[in-house]
Amino acid sequence: MTDHFNGIKDIKGNRMEQQHLSWFRALCDRLEGNLVQFTRLQSASQFHYKAAASVLIAVFVYFAFAVLHVQAETLVFIVLVFSRLWPKFSALQSNLEQIGQTVPAFRHLRELQQASEAAREPEPLRLAEGGAVQVAQGFELRDVYYRYDREQETYALQAVNLRIPAHRMTAVVGRSGAGKSTLIDLLIGLVQPERGQVLVDGKPLGAGEAYELRRSVSYVSQDPFLFHESVRDNLAIAAPDASEERMWEALRFAAADAFVKRLPEGLDTILGDRGVRLSGGERQRIVLARAILRNPSVLVLDEATSALDSEREAGIQEALERLRGRMTLIVIAHRLSTIRGADQIIVLDNGTIVQNGGYTQLSEEQDGLFGKLLSYQAKASG
Ligand SMILES: Nc1ncnc2c1ncn2[C@@H]1O[C@H](COP(=O)(O)OP(=O)(O)OP(=O)(O)O)[C@@H](O)[C@H]1O
Ligand SMILES: [Mg+2]
Repeated sequence: MTDHFNGIKDIKGNRMEQQHLSWFRALCDRLEGNLVQFTRLQSASQFHYKAAASVLIAVFVYFAFAVLHVQAETLVFIVLVFSRLWPKFSALQSNLEQIGQTVPAFRHLRELQQASEAAREPEPLRLAEGGAVQVAQGFELRDVYYRYDREQETYALQAVNLRIPAHRMTAVVGRSGAGKSTLIDLLIGLVQPERGQVLVDGKPLGAGEAYELRRSVSYVSQDPFLFHESVRDNLAIAAPDASEERMWEALRFAAADAFVKRLPEGLDTILGDRGVRLSGGERQRIVLARAILRNPSVLVLDEATSALDSEREAGIQEALERLRGRMTLIVIAHRLSTIRGADQIIVLDNGTIVQNGGYTQLSEEQDGLFGKLLSYQAKASG
């Protein structure tokens, strides 16, 4: 049902109602089948239990009378005691059945809990508040291999060696599925490499260090996420002490100030399903403002301006140029015009680095993937 509501636009827009309904129906049928099977099992076991009990009682009464010659009063007394005790026994039996029913679910939950415990990040190493770690020299990847599924042969990233200098702008480009987002996950320690090393300022990035590092990182993911709260709360979650003035400054940076002013209650407008719904580009700009507001040492933008019109994107590009020198910028972009100013461009293909260098250098390299991507875009823009 959640799938249905989340995908309603795609479902209706492509007339997939019938197919989706038949999935749902199949699921309900399975549910129904399970329930019927369970009830059948339960009543069958109840029946056997009761039948066996009746036979047992009959045999007992017969034995008591015919063989042991127990007196009638004593027998009535015994039967009375039994009839009092009986409900306890049958409650025991049905409780056991219920436990049997819930054990599989409980086992799944335990497994999930254990997996989560195993993947738990260690407590932060240093608890010094305020003074965020500054990345002074930069990142380095040494012969890094990573794959999502250890059973699969293909690596999402393999034999990756690179340096990302601090206070510069590094762009990562490549076809869809090349491994760009995965590279970012490795850099900020969201995932650990299977082989090789990630170094920050020359020190290996373990899970504890990664937790500390992310204090000074702002990451705008490919899929911008806003909480169902006001604009102000959505910004303040990144920087709780930020003044209203600084919020507007960040919004201005992300070219979001004009439309936020136009919202019914300005900064206090609730966003999300029961509040004001934003367009894709507006959402991106608020998430970008949130990232800037933290005043990070490292700013990572994964397709952060993909939904914006060229004019706004150019504005944000200029603003980013001004940040260079103060922050380490790592930018993923499909629209290559946006990374013209990058100090270094890393071209990924199928999980490996195929080119690495400056914009002009790469565009002049014959038969390079970068040149190819550039020429496609030049053709597209006429
Ligand atoms: N959570 C995941 N589980 C399994 N495989 C994944 C997962 N995320 C990505 N992959 C796979 O890893 C490869 C690299 O994915 P990645 O998201 O890094 O690509 P990308 O370069 O960011 O692509 P795009 O430009 O489309 O965002 C892809 O083949 C993808 O199918
Ligand atoms: Mg990606």
